[in-house]
Amino acid sequence: MRDAECDRSNYDAVTQALHWLTLALLILQFGLAWAAPERLSSPDTLISLHLSFGIVIFIVVLMRLSWRLLRPAPPLPDDLPAWQRLGSQTIQILLYVLLLALPVLGWLWAGERGWVVNPFGLMTLPDLVAKGSSFGRFAGDLHGLLSNVLLALVGLHVLGALYHAFFRRDGVMQRMLPVSRRSI
Ligand code: HEM
Repeated sequence: MRDAECDRSNYDAVTQALHWLTLALLILQFGLAWAAPERLSSPDTLISLHLSFGIVIFIVVLMRLSWRLLRPAPPLPDDLPAWQRLGSQTIQILLYVLLLALPVLGWLWAGERGWVVNPFGLMTLPDLVAKGSSFGRFAGDLHGLLSNVLLALVGLHVLGALYHAFFRRDGVMQRMLPVSRRSI
C-alpha cells in the first residue's frame, strides 16, 4: 500500500528521464550558441550542432508533452497556497510554449540567413522563408529575446524547486529525482 502511494506521488521514470535530458540539452544548446562566433556568413561546426540539437530539443519536448497527456503530473500538496499553485503551473506552460517556439523561430532565422538546416547530416529540412526575408529576421530577433525569457523562467522554476526542497520540505522536488522519496 505504501509503495503504491509512493508510485502515485512520484513522477514515473520516463518523465524523469525526459526532464533531465531536456535540461542537459538546454545547457549544451546555450553553450553552443554563446561559444559560436557572432554573425557568420555560413554555419561553423558549433552553429551546425546548435541547429541539430535544437531540432532534437523540439522532438524531445513533443515526446514530453505526449507522455504527459498519458501520465498526468502527480497532484501538488493540498495545503499549497493558490497563488503558488497558479504560478508554478503558469511557468510550466510557458516553458513548454517557449521550448516549442524557439526551435521554430531558430529554423525561420536559419532560412533568413540562407543556412541549410541538416540535423547531424541526416536529412535536409525545407527552408521556411526565403534568404533575407524580413519575417525571418523578425523571427531571429524573437529567437534571441525569447531565449533570455526562457533562461529567466528556468531560473524561477529552479528557485521554486529549491523552495519546496529546503523551505517547505514537502517532497515536491524529490518527485523528479530518480531515487525513492523515503531515502531522502
Ligand atoms: C530550445 C531550443 C533553442 C534555444 C534555447 C536556442 C538558443 C539560442 C541562443 C541563446 C542564441 C544566441 C542569440 C543571440 O546571440 O542573440 C541562438 C542563436 C541562433 N539560433 Fe538558436 N536556440 C534553439 C534552437 C534553434 C534551432 C532549432 C535553430 C535552427 C534550426 C536555431 C537557430 C539559431 C540561429 C540561426 C542563431 C543565430 C546564430 C548566429 O547568428 O551566429 N536555434 N539560439
